[in-house]
Amino acid sequence: MDSLLDFTDKVVLITGAASGFGKQLAIDFSARGAKLVIGDLNIEGLNAVAETLAGPVTVIKCDVSKEDECKAMVDAAIENYGQLDIAINNAGISHGYIPLHQMTDEIMDLQFDINIKGVVYGMKHQIEAMMPKGDGVILNVSSMAGLGGAPNISAYSAAKHAVIGLTKTAAVEYARKGIRVNAVCPFFTLTPMVADGELIGDTKESTQEILARSCPMKRLGQPVEITNVMLMMCSPGNSFMNGQCIAVDGGMSAM
Ligand SMILES: NC(=O)c1ccc[n+]([C@@H]2O[C@H](COP(=O)([O-])OP(=O)(O)OC[C@H]3O[C@@H](n4cnc5c(N)ncnc54)[C@H](O)[C@@H]3O)[C@@H](O)[C@H]2O)c1
Repeated sequence: MDSLLDFTDKVVLITGAASGFGKQLAIDFSARGAKLVIGDLNIEGLNAVAETLAGPVTVIKCDVSKEDECKAMVDAAIENYGQLDIAINNAGISHGYIPLHQMTDEIMDLQFDINIKGVVYGMKHQIEAMMPKGDGVILNVSSMAGLGGAPNISAYSAAKHAVIGLTKTAAVEYARKGIRVNAVCPFFTLTPMVADGELIGDTKESTQEILARSCPMKRLGQPVEITNVMLMMCSPGNSFMNGQCIAVDGGMSAM
């Protein structure tokens, strides 16, 4: 295996691993030798992912909006494998398309609790576990909606901007402790979140065409096109990238 993508015996924690990016990451890290701790609200989905993996995996039901459940994932990494090397704060939710003047407290609270607090709780305990050994990698999942305005998903956009603030701040705070913290910012990608999401056209296909219009490549991303970049960002060879929020967007941010 190319050493740049060799994760042999690395202990990797992934939230939201029952579906989409998290599921693909579990498959890819495991295939490259990692020992996994995977969490999600959806325990059946997690177990189905775990059954496809050949390597060591610990499955934990984890709602990232609950601090004790985020801590339990980190504790499991330490108890089962003795350390935590890489943590990916990937769990997240979108919300229905709604103009800002109709925004509700319920939508805002869910975005805050899951997409922001979930990342804070995760990083808090992951950093604590990584500090004693003086190295670690944290990758947060933001969005293109975290780098710019996102019409009709303002609460999601605000939450994903917050993930970038948290990422940059943690990167600066813990750089001297040997912990790198970065974020990935995908454009719309065909995970279940988008493929089975709210229709804005008459059909799924026309909805995807509408979403793809703002992308220079005029298509949506495939999950593996995002997770390949995430693997590279976690690579042991990528040791000087810190505090970066990397767009994977078919060229959208170049316009
Ligand atoms: N798909 C896209 O177009 C896109 C673009 C940019 C960013 N993202 C982000 O990527 C991340 C992964 O999303 P995805 O596209 O794979 O979607 P997905 O819906 O396929 O997967 C998300 C997973 O997170 C889990 N989850 C939801 N709430 C949770 C909670 N409170 N605690 C633990 N797990 C929870 C779900 O059960 C699901 O398994 C999210 O943070 C999302 O905001 C997605």
